Amino acid sequence: MAGHDNRQVIAVADPAAMAATAAEHLLARTAANGGRVAICLTGGSSPKQLYQLLATEPYCSRIPWQRVHWFIGDERFVPADDPLNNMGMARAAFLDQCAPAANIHPIPTATADPTDPDRGAALYEQELQSFYGANTLDPTLPLFDLVLMGVGPDGHTASLFPGDPALDEQARWVVGVPRANVAPFVPRVTLTLTALASCHEMLFEVSGRDKRAILTRLFAGENLPANRARSSGETVWLVDREALPEDFGGQ
Ligand code: 6PG
Repeated sequence: MAGHDNRQVIAVADPAAMAATAAEHLLARTAANGGRVAICLTGGSSPKQLYQLLATEPYCSRIPWQRVHWFIGDERFVPADDPLNNMGMARAAFLDQCAPAANIHPIPTATADPTDPDRGAALYEQELQSFYGANTLDPTLPLFDLVLMGVGPDGHTASLFPGDPALDEQARWVVGVPRANVAPFVPRVTLTLTALASCHEMLFEVSGRDKRAILTRLFAGENLPANRARSSGETVWLVDREALPEDFGGQ
C-alpha cells in the first residue's frame, strides 16, 4: 500500500472532545477542497456523537452540503431502518436532516442478496468507480477527502476482520464478508484497505475503557487489520483518556 507508515495519535479528554475534534477535521477537509468533496463514514457507536454534532451549530452552517458526498466504509445485511444499519444510523443522526438525498451513497445491503455479499460489494464498487470517474485509483487523486474509522475489540476495522483474506485484496475496492467476527453476526460488505487508503486523511475515533486492551496491542505493533489501515495521505487516531494505554508515550 502506498503511503506514509506514520500515524499521528491525538489524545483527547472524552467522547465529547473527540466529537468536536473530529468535526473540526471534517470541516478542514471540506474547506481544503473547493470542488466535490467525498467523505467515507463509519459504523459502530463511536462516531454517533460526531454525526449528531454535525447537524448542530456552529458546524452545520459551515458544511457545504450541496457539494459534499457521503459514503460508508462497511455495511451489515440488516434492513435499512434497523438500528444496526450503519448508514441508517448516520442518516438518522444527521444526513436525512442536512444532506441532499442524491449525495447519500449507502451500500445496497437492504436490497442485495445476503447469501451473495460479493454481489452487493460489486454494486457499490461500480457506484464508487462511477463517482470517481475511473476503474483504477490514481495515487495522485485520492478517492476520498476523509475516511472515518473505528476499531473493534478484536482489532478489526470497517468489516475487515483478523485473518480474513480480504485484507490482502489489492484489485477490488469493495468485497463481501460472509461471516463477521463480532456481533451482529450477519454477512457484511466492506471497502478494502486499498480503497480506504485512497484518501487525504483517515481519521480513527477510539474511546472508552473497553478499547484500552486492544489499543495496547495495536500500539505494540501487532499485525491486526486496524494497524494495516493507513491513508496515502495522513492517518490520525483520536483516542480519549479512558481508551489510552497507561504506558502510552506518544507515537
Ligand atoms: C461496523 C464498523 C466497525 C466499527 C468498530 C468499532 O460496522 O461494525 O464499521 O468497524 O467501527 O467495530 O465499533 P464501535 O464504535 O461500536 O466500538
